[in-house]
Amino acid sequence: MLQMYLVTKTWLAKLINAPFPDCRTWTMLGLAALIHSVCFAQSFPELAPELVFTVQAEGQNVIVRALTRDATCPTVSWDEQQQRRMDLRAAAATPAPRGDNAQKVTKPSVFDVLTCEARWPIGARRGRVAGKDVPAPRDQIKRIVLIGDTGCRMKASENTFQPCNDPVKWPFAQVAQSAAALHPDLVIHLGDIHYRESPCPPGNAACATSRWGYGFDAWQADLFEPAKLLLAAAPWVFVRGNHESCHRAGQGWFRFIDAKIWREDRSCNAPALDEQADYSAPYAVPLAGDTQLIVFDSSRTQGKPMTSKDVSYGKYLQQMQQVAQLTQSKAENFFMSHHPLLAVAPVKDISRFKPGGNEALQSAFSALYPERLFPQGVSVAMHGHVHLFEAISFKSSHPISLVLGNSGSAIEGLVPEVLPSSAKLYPGAEVDDYAARSEYGFATLDRLDPKPGGDWMLTEYSIHGVPLIECAISHGKSRCSKLPALTR
Ligand SMILES: [Fe+2]
Repeated sequence: MLQMYLVTKTWLAKLINAPFPDCRTWTMLGLAALIHSVCFAQSFPELAPELVFTVQAEGQNVIVRALTRDATCPTVSWDEQQQRRMDLRAAAATPAPRGDNAQKVTKPSVFDVLTCEARWPIGARRGRVAGKDVPAPRDQIKRIVLIGDTGCRMKASENTFQPCNDPVKWPFAQVAQSAAALHPDLVIHLGDIHYRESPCPPGNAACATSRWGYGFDAWQADLFEPAKLLLAAAPWVFVRGNHESCHRAGQGWFRFIDAKIWREDRSCNAPALDEQADYSAPYAVPLAGDTQLIVFDSSRTQGKPMTSKDVSYGKYLQQMQQVAQLTQSKAENFFMSHHPLLAVAPVKDISRFKPGGNEALQSAFSALYPERLFPQGVSVAMHGHVHLFEAISFKSSHPISLVLGNSGSAIEGLVPEVLPSSAKLYPGAEVDDYAARSEYGFATLDRLDPKPGGDWMLTEYSIHGVPLIECAISHGKSRCSKLPALTR
């Protein structure tokens, strides 16, 4: 083959010097091109990873991840420059079972893929993995897709088994498809990605044969397969939910999702190190102009108010001081934690109001910020955890509270469309504007004004991408209105 290549290369040289190339020369030129491409491919064999996606990390850091069953990581190239192998983040492994999960029936977590990664070079316009384009960070973030609580719940300890085989009753694939069609510049997942903790009971056709446990196959079923189009649409910011805490799907979280370097002490493999792994330090992601996101890990929080004796209390106090530091660099800060602090809980009887904020976080945050729970620079707080949509604006100085947890996991109850005047979310928090939906869906956040401190429009959609509610957001206040489709 090499001889043929050299011969055709000679013909190529002749062609360059020939004023009128003949037919034979053209034929040999084509052959040369073919052989050249074969030789090139043999030098850099292109592997086909299971999945490639882009994680927006702290600051300007953007990471391309590839999951592959091959023995080595795939190649990556930037702006048509020379290819190189991606770095290995985590090797394939089956870590020893932790033994501290609430589910009685468990199995080893098999991670039978390499997690590979490559840092996006500052200024690079195009990235390719194994010869295919990957989602590139945008110069300007104009449209953000917001989703949360997406996986299919299979949990024996609560005897809850969502019909994972029914795309209407577990609609995350439809949500992801509709959201991808809106061409976002960034996707934010507000946590609780993995829900398949227990095997589907015998005789339950609605979830029969569903993959389960904490290994790669369950992550594929809950995230990588249904979200394939949305993962290909734009970089993602991931917020960690309680389902991704160390004693649940934390090992997969750190292998596949977490935006920082993978280390054994931040892997959730050893329960003795959970105090480090379950409290990731907050970080900021610039959005546009004078606005940034702040990502906060609340995965380990419990439901009851804490005291200073609780480990979490000290950790969250320290981390909120870090958040306050981060807010100093931008005028507008969108704080994101999986658990909401100011929310309405879903109920079975719609006439009964119940606050839905996390009392443990409230107890820690109020110790530092008794007036508004958040540092002054936080204008919007975004959350998941509660499986519905809420947008709440306050007369008091509290930031707008958005709950965006209705993107796939089983709906847990209803919320009133109009808040009773007597409703109290938290002492001192006086509601000015409120909108809510109890059905599945997702939201977008569109930047309306490129000026610093400019306005945003939040839109809540049905799973099919029909806009239902719009909320104009400006300087920490929101005003929502139903769109005609909802009232038809
Ligand atoms: Fe949650």
